Amino acid sequence: MQIRTPRPRRSVLYVPATNEKALAKIAQLACDAVIIDLEDAVAPAEKLAARERLKAIFAGREKGGREMIVRVNALSSEWGEGDLLAARECRPDGILLPKVETARDILEANDLLDDTDARPSLWLWAMIETPRALLNIGAIAALGRDRGARLACLVAGTNDLVKETGVKVTPDRRYLASWLSQMVLAARAGGLDVLDGVSNDFRDLDAFARECEEGRNMGFDGKTLIHPAQIEAANAAFSPSGDEVTDALAVRAAFALPENEKKGVISIDGRMIERLHLDQAERVLARAGK
Ligand code: COA
Ligand code: MG
Repeated sequence: MQIRTPRPRRSVLYVPATNEKALAKIAQLACDAVIIDLEDAVAPAEKLAARERLKAIFAGREKGGREMIVRVNALSSEWGEGDLLAARECRPDGILLPKVETARDILEANDLLDDTDARPSLWLWAMIETPRALLNIGAIAALGRDRGARLACLVAGTNDLVKETGVKVTPDRRYLASWLSQMVLAARAGGLDVLDGVSNDFRDLDAFARECEEGRNMGFDGKTLIHPAQIEAANAAFSPSGDEVTDALAVRAAFALPENEKKGVISIDGRMIERLHLDQAERVLARAGK
């Protein structure tokens, strides 16, 4: 069974596989992860050329560097399977499947990877971006508990959701909020990471900072981005604050004391602290890299 090591995913930048200038920029950027996109950002006439570019993009990549994911086309499309196999050859950290609608969609991709003896730590990420995906979200996310299924992360595909549902987009995303919360809830039930959708208006950084804050408050682990200008605000919003880290360290230290080792509940400065708070503290510390 493969264990997922927690990684910070505060800022996850899409880079179209066909945009040479953007690809050349990745090395200088402070985002936690990059998604090389073969899907929405690549026109049909360029799909095969984009797939061909993958090898060069991944060539010379250093081990242990920034997380790199490939977003393939949907397996139901004419490009999907070829993309998946080409991506697998490049040894990315994960493959992001778009238009996932059922748990079966994940299992199909998983079978294709198993058939080619892909390493167990080649993770699958799933875009949640259709009404059907939302209706099936519990079953999809439950695969997070089945380590053989490779599922590690859910990604909100808000542009497609808006297109598919006709929901109105307001600055506070109030009509999207319940669906976003459902994704967070399902991800937690499945022990998965979950990333908020993109913000298209990359020049309005004030609005972007507010949206990051909102995503953070909803419980997302990070945000998907489309432009380098968005990285700093996402990193700031999704990093634990200094106070949160101090509190978490105090909880860890308190439970590590010999007299508390076997206790379920203790008190710190007049506050009740249970083992569940220790789990919470460890999550904060993992996000802070401690
Ligand atoms: N990744 C890396 N670098 C990027 C980038 C990205 N996603 N988007 C822009 N850049 C780079 C540009 O190449 C440019 O580099 P330079 O300083 O060397 O000239 C710099 O950042 C400034 O870019 P700017 O001129 O402001 O934007 P643009 O007009 O070149 O690109 C978009 C605007 C929207 C076309 C581009 O940001 C993009 O393609 N984003 C990703 C879209 C995507 O993947 N969508 C699918 C998921 S929703
Ligand atoms: Mg999409």
